[in-house]
Amino acid sequence: MKCNVIISPFSVDELYFTGKTTVVIDVLRASNTIITALKNGAKEIVPVASVEFAVKVSGGMFGGQTLLGGERNTKKIDGFALGNSPLEYSEKAISGKSIVFFTTNGSRAIVKAKFSENLFVCSFSNIAAVAKHLAKLKRDFEIVCAGRNNSFSLEDSICAGKLVLYMQELDENLELSDSSNACLALNKILGKNILDMLKNSDHGKLLIENGFGEDLILCSKLNNTKVVPFFRENVVKLMPGNNT
Ligand code: MLT
Repeated sequence: MKCNVIISPFSVDELYFTGKTTVVIDVLRASNTIITALKNGAKEIVPVASVEFAVKVSGGMFGGQTLLGGERNTKKIDGFALGNSPLEYSEKAISGKSIVFFTTNGSRAIVKAKFSENLFVCSFSNIAAVAKHLAKLKRDFEIVCAGRNNSFSLEDSICAGKLVLYMQELDENLELSDSSNACLALNKILGKNILDMLKNSDHGKLLIENGFGEDLILCSKLNNTKVVPFFRENVVKLMPGNNT
């Protein structure tokens, strides 16, 4: 198997993903919000690339069981029911609902990779489950870091490096691109204390400043769920058998 890391989805065209196996990572916070929502019984997440489209899609579709969720500049968008804090996505708030979801980087990265044959959402919390699934598929794969405002994000790259490490343990012949090797090295140096790393990252600092410090604790948890969100036909759902 071959593995490549894309440091920012905006460096590639959406057709690049056609037929590929792709893992999208947005540690702070879209990946964790999606994982939490599905774990707590959301029917599906509908990732969109603009607020305007979110409002349009949520209109008459999905039988009235739709909630709008997401953020702009880390904060809940006017008229949306939910922001982008995983803590808001409790069973009571979202069980059985379709959530139309816009975030600055995460939802847009998923939409960008929509032509992938297999598309999964990953964070530290489900990294072992995603790795196990990739190993079963036995396909070359791309790891897409959602990044930050079209550029590098420390936490996404370190999470990508950790996924590469897990994959090396499952496939001793895994072939790494330069970017995979770089992320692997970064994880080795800065990935030991995930919470500290998040607190010192640019996006982590901004979230703390905006009152979302608790989210960093949740997003720092390693392997506390087997939930593997997968994207098909425009929605992200829970992979059958991976729902705890
Ligand atoms: C994003 O997708 O840009 C992030 O999830 C932003 C955030 O932390 O709310």
